Amino acid sequence: MCFSWMPIAVLVVAVIAGYMYLNKPSDIYLSRPLNSTYDYIVVGAGSAGAVVANRLSEDKDTSVLLVEAGGSELGILEFEIPAGFIALHRTEHDWEYYTEPQKYSSQSMKEKRSYWPRGRVLGGTSNLNNMVYIRGSRHDFDHWEKEGCNGWSYKDVLPYFIKAEDFQMDEYVDSGYHGKGGYQTVSESQVTELRDIYMAASEEAGYKTVDCNGENMIGFCKMQSSIRNGQRWSTAKAYLRPVMERENLHISINSVVTKIIIENKKAAGIEMIKDGMKKRIMVKKEVIVSAGSVNSPQLLMLSGIGPKQHLEQFKIPVHADLPVGSNLQDHMIYGLPIYANVSYAIDITKATSIKTLLQYFLFGKGYLTSSALEATLYTHSSKGNTSFYPDIQLHFLSIRLDSNMTKKYNPSNMDDESIENAIKSNIDSSMVIMSTLIHPKSRGEIRLKSRDPFDHPAIDPHYLEQKEDVNVLIEGIRVAQNLVKTKVLEKFGAKEVNLNALNPKCSHIEYDSDAFWECGIRNAAQTVYHPTSTCRMGAANDPTAVVDSQLRVKGIAGLRVVDASVMRNIPSGNINAPSIMIGEKASDMIRGKDTVADIREKTKNL
Ligand SMILES: Cc1cc2nc3c(=O)[nH]c(=O)nc-3n(C[C@H](O)[C@H](O)[C@H](O)COP(=O)(O)OP(=O)(O)OC[C@H]3O[C@@H](n4cnc5c(N)ncnc54)[C@H](O)[C@@H]3O)c2cc1C
Ligand SMILES: *[C@@H]1O[C@H](CO)[C@@H](O)[C@H](O)[C@H]1NC(C)=O
Ligand SMILES: *[C@@H]1O[C@H](CO)[C@@H](O)[C@H](O)[C@H]1NC(C)=O
Ligand SMILES: *[C@@H]1O[C@H](CO)[C@@H](O)[C@H](O)[C@H]1NC(C)=O
Ligand SMILES: *[C@@H]1O[C@H](CO)[C@@H](O)[C@H](O)[C@H]1NC(C)=O
Repeated sequence: MCFSWMPIAVLVVAVIAGYMYLNKPSDIYLSRPLNSTYDYIVVGAGSAGAVVANRLSEDKDTSVLLVEAGGSELGILEFEIPAGFIALHRTEHDWEYYTEPQKYSSQSMKEKRSYWPRGRVLGGTSNLNNMVYIRGSRHDFDHWEKEGCNGWSYKDVLPYFIKAEDFQMDEYVDSGYHGKGGYQTVSESQVTELRDIYMAASEEAGYKTVDCNGENMIGFCKMQSSIRNGQRWSTAKAYLRPVMERENLHISINSVVTKIIIENKKAAGIEMIKDGMKKRIMVKKEVIVSAGSVNSPQLLMLSGIGPKQHLEQFKIPVHADLPVGSNLQDHMIYGLPIYANVSYAIDITKATSIKTLLQYFLFGKGYLTSSALEATLYTHSSKGNTSFYPDIQLHFLSIRLDSNMTKKYNPSNMDDESIENAIKSNIDSSMVIMSTLIHPKSRGEIRLKSRDPFDHPAIDPHYLEQKEDVNVLIEGIRVAQNLVKTKVLEKFGAKEVNLNALNPKCSHIEYDSDAFWECGIRNAAQTVYHPTSTCRMGAANDPTAVVDSQLRVKGIAGLRVVDASVMRNIPSGNINAPSIMIGEKASDMIRGKDTVADIREKTKNL
């Protein structure tokens, strides 16, 4: 039977692939000759930068240049297929950063360094992330406002979240919290049976199922994702492709900005390297830096904006003495592997079967549309704020990396010994629940290693330096353990995998004690890839702030930062959605327009 339809299946896939190739939207708009001057220059076409370039070029008499270090995302299947994300790690589309060796964490990682993928392509990191779409808690933004970010309270930012969205979950679309017709598609992400099993277990344990982008995020949440018709909906797809033909928008790819030209305390233009050639392009109104939480601070420092002593060390003339690169914050995750007598998780065999390929290419459905994360849960620790402000998030994983895949892709940068242990112990976990630290107390920094713009900066997150961060992660593990004990999961034979074989470094400690988990966490807890706050926003007189609440760099005219680096503090959710919101809100500030008056009116009581 297999023989009779295999060749047909292969033929169908080939025809569809050919059809897709012939019909791929063209990149001709990326090769228009550049002008010498623009009204605005946006540096970086990532989650935020793509939004800003789109919105500024809505004004037809305004000229905009968007500069991106990476290339086009078109024609690369791993960018289309949600489940392809891991194959993009450590490729030309990834900046592939590694942190400095860590003292309090990452002990089982190569040289104790954490691996930080970052997108280097149109769409930036929205093109290699896991597509989880969570805005954050309303209290995150209310706290920003309280700490001096005027105009950034929840009631101020909600209209921009709504403006951005084309929301596709019928269940919640009319709740008042969601938008239709925006550029960014957000859809329900469910491929396996695991989501509903986790939901039933969570409900049994007393968690309500909620819309975590709605009124109250505490509880179990069906994952919402930046996926449209089974395709990754990066900001390149969402915000750039539909408007690329605009005459007043130029996009320069494969162009690394090496410096912002500053004259008389004003941004006058940029220097960039394209095709091995140095170019200067001047600006009439503003330079907008949207290069992300690593590259934005690096570029500012290379341009003479940063901690004075640090810049002087590299003989960089100082234009503004600001705490650029400080206040680095990041989320961390630690997975609890669970054995269960079910095989719902997606593995490599399922992901590459002919049936899966056909389902994907014919209908845009099936395993390949999985973002790996189909559900999440928000709660709070014993020290947390019980009035609806979470400090623990659980991520429920729906894929399963066998040891060969772990070795090949090594997303956690495990050292050789740990990889060997993983292979030897051959953990057959059919489920993984991950405890996530969402309000870290530890603070890190990004500093220059040299004045060569092509050198990676020194990234030191100081992970888990504050003991409280470990305690919260342990409490998250306890929440996950309680789910394992529910009748729902018991029915599937769920039990925790014994971790001694995986992590012999901790096996001398009493199993399941807090000290045991602390040991595991300090060895193997890893980044959720959410660095923020390295060009922190704050009041004009706030010594920790790099930009004011209009996102203007303090002391330099015509220069803003618009990306995840301006976040006052890291929000409670995964940070792509708030990066897009920041792009939307900043665009109104720059244009001097209020495009959300009607949405604000409708949402004023939410
Ligand atoms: C593996 C992974 C998984 C993730 N999963 C999720 C998730 O599921 N959900 C979620 O919400 N978040 C997730 N994130 C995080 C999220 O995607 C990012 O925080 C977000 O995309 C950041 O947006 P940004 O605009 O600040 O920066 P970016 O999107 O990184 O954009 C910066 C852009 O600037 C360009 N650039 C940098 N320097 C220069 C220069 N000198 N000259 C020209 N261009 C330059 C870069 O190439 C890039 O395109 C994940 C991140 C990673 C790495
Ligand atoms: C580029 O320059 C040409 C010639 O001056 C002008 O017509 C065009 O509008 C400019 N385009 C942009 C995007 O600045
Ligand atoms: C797993 O489930 C199958 C089918 O439900 C059952 O036959 C088998 O005994 C179970 N095995 C274990 C170890 O529980
Ligand atoms: C808890 O959250 C409420 C609501 O935002 C806030 O008023 C209160 O100050 C918070 N308490 C603490 C200890 O953070
Ligand atoms: C892993 O790789 C080894 C050697 O390449 C191979 O023999 C084995 O079948 C692979 N295991 C899986 C689960 O694919």
